[in-house]
Amino acid sequence: AHAAPAAVSSDHPLVIAHRGASAQAPENTLAAIDRAARLGFRWVENDVQRTKDGQLVVIHDDSLTRTTDVEEVFPDRAPWKVKDFTAAEIARLDAGSWFSPRYTGARVPTLKQYMNRVSHNHQKLVLEIKNPALYPGIEQETLKVLSNEGWLGPARVRSKLVIQSFDADSIRTVHALRPDIKTGFLGTPSVAELPAYAQFADQINSSHTTISLGYVAAIHALDGPHGKPLEISTWTVDTPEDTRRVAGFGVDGVITNKPDVVREALRED
Ligand code: G3P
Ligand code: CA
Repeated sequence: AHAAPAAVSSDHPLVIAHRGASAQAPENTLAAIDRAARLGFRWVENDVQRTKDGQLVVIHDDSLTRTTDVEEVFPDRAPWKVKDFTAAEIARLDAGSWFSPRYTGARVPTLKQYMNRVSHNHQKLVLEIKNPALYPGIEQETLKVLSNEGWLGPARVRSKLVIQSFDADSIRTVHALRPDIKTGFLGTPSVAELPAYAQFADQINSSHTTISLGYVAAIHALDGPHGKPLEISTWTVDTPEDTRRVAGFGVDGVITNKPDVVREALRED
């Protein structure tokens, strides 16, 4: 028999690699989650949107221009919205060279490809449904891909997946469809509004610029939909000073482009 492992204090707060390790590799690519894995980070965050032909892809902006070479490949397709391109067209784009020539050839992953890599890397995911008002039905479609990729079984749902959005209706929909999944609302509702959010969100994930010791305490004082204290993961925390500040507030998670910087600051704490 083995002795029980020692409590892992480094699990609190969780460090979540925002769009992958996005200060070191192009955001929301497989290279960015691989980079996070190599640095030793289990939790990654991404952004999910939908193509013209109904495929889910991992990209932050509703336009392809900032993070791909779409303007060169399809010069006549302004304003180059994700929703106006097919998955096959998006698969032709280079999503790495804008970041560094070293990443030339990186692609915008489909959610299916992304989930395969998260699984392969033994990682855990905070999945953001981005701009859901542009994509009616994206909640059901996201759950279908997650289910097909084996992500809605009890073990993963219990401890390896959070679905979040800035859109409360979208999170309410996810909670209604699959009440077992852990959800997060992105924003900073007033303390008076928090109980309403706690009906369908397990987490209130706020910008670090908007929170205080008192706000974090108000979140922790409530129970979420699963009868456990409401949690808060805060974003986007990229400096040792901000890390120490939010750790002092008692946040549960730190979402960061620079997980190595945050880990180091937490060790010094
Ligand atoms: O996970 C929190 C953060 O990703 C929300 O903002 O714009 O980076 O998606 P954004
Ligand atoms: Ca995001």
